[in-house]
Amino acid sequence: MAISKAVGFIATILLLYSLNALGQEDEDLPCNRRDVGIEGRSVVCVCTATYCDTITRRDPEPGTYVVYTSSNAGQRFEKSSGRILEEVNNGGTEDDAPAAGDGAQDPPEASQIWNNVVLRIRTISRHQYIEGFGGSVTDAAAINWRKLSDATQQQFIDSYFGPKGLEYNLIRVPIGGCDFSEHPYTYAETPWHDTTLSNFSLSSEDYFLKLPMIRRSQRVATDEIKITASTWSPPIWMKTNEAITGFGQLRPQYYQAYADYHLRFIEEYDKIDVKIWAITTTNEPINGIVPFVQFNSLGWAPSQLGRWVANNLGPTIRNSPYNKTLILGVDDQRYLLPIYLAGMEREDPKSIDYLDGIAVHWYGNFFPPQTLSLIQNRYPDKIILATEACEGSMPWHLEQLAIGSWERARRYVTSIIDDLNNFVVGWIDWNLCLSPTGGPNWADNFVDAPILVYGDKDEFIKQPMFYAMGHFSKFIPRGARRVTVSRASLATVENVAFIKENGNIVVVLQNRLRRVMNVKLRISNRNYIDIVMEERSVKTIEINPSTPA
Ligand SMILES: *[C@@H]1O[C@H](CO)[C@@H](O)[C@H](O)[C@H]1NC(C)=O
Ligand SMILES: *[C@@H]1O[C@H](CO)[C@@H](O)[C@H](O)[C@H]1NC(C)=O
Repeated sequence: MAISKAVGFIATILLLYSLNALGQEDEDLPCNRRDVGIEGRSVVCVCTATYCDTITRRDPEPGTYVVYTSSNAGQRFEKSSGRILEEVNNGGTEDDAPAAGDGAQDPPEASQIWNNVVLRIRTISRHQYIEGFGGSVTDAAAINWRKLSDATQQQFIDSYFGPKGLEYNLIRVPIGGCDFSEHPYTYAETPWHDTTLSNFSLSSEDYFLKLPMIRRSQRVATDEIKITASTWSPPIWMKTNEAITGFGQLRPQYYQAYADYHLRFIEEYDKIDVKIWAITTTNEPINGIVPFVQFNSLGWAPSQLGRWVANNLGPTIRNSPYNKTLILGVDDQRYLLPIYLAGMEREDPKSIDYLDGIAVHWYGNFFPPQTLSLIQNRYPDKIILATEACEGSMPWHLEQLAIGSWERARRYVTSIIDDLNNFVVGWIDWNLCLSPTGGPNWADNFVDAPILVYGDKDEFIKQPMFYAMGHFSKFIPRGARRVTVSRASLATVENVAFIKENGNIVVVLQNRLRRVMNVKLRISNRNYIDIVMEERSVKTIEINPSTPA
């Protein structure tokens, strides 16, 4: 008796102790805020060798939820939690009322109509499985990262990939150089016309920049990092214009050599134990047809791309030891997908059979996101992956960098929500980091990035875009499935919802407006939660709908 009492006591102490330990683990290091000193901008978070903010996911108890909030006002993943509520006088009817109707006698105030949102999450209506979220290991990203001390480099890697960071699980890497390199290069520059690629070799950029950054990321990642690789330009002797940029296509006699070039890259990375999960069929094929841009490119007309994939790239990959490597077609803007896919299919339907998916970039996002749903309908067995996005790249962007801009984070969130609601399975950001002038870039195509690195001060800053990415990457794990959200009010907020493998529901909401919005999230006929959305804020809510014991 006494012994069992003592055991019970010790067990209780241990339980309290472990609960306490869990509580401590939950304590995050807050953003070390810096006001960027520009009117209208939000804050940035400063990281050094000795300090960097962290974000830990808290598992909601049954019947509860946890909310993470970031906002223009300066919140960064601020945590709060609450209990799932139960409707008392609602007879369990389905989605009764728009807005604040629930049994009210008086007509609702105008402010109620416009500020009260009711969303119904329909977990039985399930769509695509999520692969993940991530960023790109370009030469430019790795050059900046390497300017930091070893301890600060680690803070950087932990911030993106670690258990107390954004837990990225996707990376995109250029095959050879791109504009975010210090100079253009390929892996088989000499001898010319050598279709055997006898002198193929990775570059010093691979060995000293990209591969070390990838391997450091893999060491802390909480899930397998799936790597997508893309070629910008082949060796110039394969091209009609014998130049790295401008109007130039692949010479037909080198169709097979260019397919082999991809296979050789996969082999070389595999030798260093870095597995390539997917390749795309060349970055932005339109750039070598309509050469507005002055950086590494290869032009493909849709019919040419169809011929090459059907006769060369597809068979080369599928008949190799790397036959499981995914082939993602097009890798260009939203509005070009229908044109390219139809053209490829018309040329040779086998080209479509070889594709596992379709890669899309965000620079054409003025075109409606429903284009992606139409593509998914047309090709139901393909995945759609977003492979590139950044702010500050457009001619109308007066400033390439807008340090601390909430508006840029807001556009990331809008775009990711739109893409996910239209069947995109994953979303890869462009450069993981850049310099304070948005480079280096040999073609002077400077842009913004979620992290900017100040090598001289051994520090980096996390811009609002970093947190925008994290509101998805941290909380929507690989294997989660998107579910339908329907609106039962006049007003709305941007939204997307998922069900995780463990049954938890994850919802991302964005309030773009400069006023507070009240959101009722119905998760069943009887159960709901109430959320107050601060002005210009984004929230991720993880709900554990199981009944408390
Ligand atoms: C092979 O490539 C290297 C650069 O990687 C170059 O220096 C060398 O000249 C090339 N060999 C031939 C025979 O072209
Ligand atoms: C795919 O490649 C593996 C080796 O990586 C090989 O064992 C397998 O037979 C190949 N499958 C096909 C269908 O060629």
